[in-house]
Amino acid sequence: MNERIDILLSNFLKNSVPAHGLPAVAYNDSEFWEIESETVFTQNWVFVGFVHELKKPGDVVTCSVAGQPLILIKNKLGEINAFHNACRHRCLKLVDEAKNVGTKLRCPYHSWTYNLDGELCETPFFAGEEHHVEGFDLSKHGLKPVRLAIWHDWIFVNLSADAPAFEEYSAPLIKYFDDINFEQVKAVATLDFGEISTNWKFLMENYIEPYHVQFVHRTTTNQPLKDHYTIVDDVCLGSAIELDEEEKVKGSLSVSSRYLTLFPNFIIGRYFPDQIGVYLNVPVDSGRTQQKRVIYTTEGQTLSKDEVDAVKKLWWDVHKEDHAICERLQLGRASPVAKEGGFLSPHWEDSVRAFQTMIAEAVMNTSKNI
Ligand SMILES: [Fe+2]
Repeated sequence: MNERIDILLSNFLKNSVPAHGLPAVAYNDSEFWEIESETVFTQNWVFVGFVHELKKPGDVVTCSVAGQPLILIKNKLGEINAFHNACRHRCLKLVDEAKNVGTKLRCPYHSWTYNLDGELCETPFFAGEEHHVEGFDLSKHGLKPVRLAIWHDWIFVNLSADAPAFEEYSAPLIKYFDDINFEQVKAVATLDFGEISTNWKFLMENYIEPYHVQFVHRTTTNQPLKDHYTIVDDVCLGSAIELDEEEKVKGSLSVSSRYLTLFPNFIIGRYFPDQIGVYLNVPVDSGRTQQKRVIYTTEGQTLSKDEVDAVKKLWWDVHKEDHAICERLQLGRASPVAKEGGFLSPHWEDSVRAFQTMIAEAVMNTSKNI
């Protein structure tokens, strides 16, 4: 472990009022990102994709966790499984984009072939004229599986063999959805934002603090700061607002809302009375993150094209406001002023402090084990 990172994180963990944010190194240092990959993104359940994007047997979606390429694949029974996206022969990245592979997954290099359950079926000419090398057991060389859990439309994976079950891990978040009938929840639109020039943590931190809403979103929302509160509930962090009828303004985000997350990268917003938004945040490296948002209705209602376009435009605009801020947070990390992380509001950013503390503790614990 890098001593410089260790010292900076030790300083961060000391309590001061107001507390410091994470040091700049947590956002712009490639070594920090590598340690995060080995800890935060290896030990925890990470959100990777949407069930509704895998419609038919043979559908494959690619994803990346801790910089590792993975695939999600639907088998003949309609079950979704996750595997490392690498052929067992020469370790080529097997699938490069979402597609349907039919009944078999064939490596384009030397045609090693796997069925939809990841079992190795064919190794053409591996022994010369013959296909089978004696002593090489095909059943032991299928695609390497990854632990997977599904909560309604949302797919999570865990790279660690000894992490708790998803149901146990996610309980602090899931209890906030006790009153929803998930059979009525329908995906109605997807916004793909591509790559944003910011560290993944800035997108998470921005989402769980209500402090900025009145300033950054003053044209797209009408949510007074005084009505907000933060949520710090183990691995579920966020904020919420309950508005009176007279405070609601049609066509804007002036609705009672809950902005919730599951550590590390799952974001689910609930907008009363009838909308959910889920964001997929995929870190590319320390300075870049891919983001996508799926919008759901929660009462089974079908929206007209105009209604879908309106809701897409509203969320597109809100996200762009947040992205601009997160990109400038990233740029600010090049300044020596950011070395010790600035300051956090003890009232409005306690959720951010809790998130950052989980990051610092995960990174430092591992450093002690190395
Ligand atoms: Fe925002």
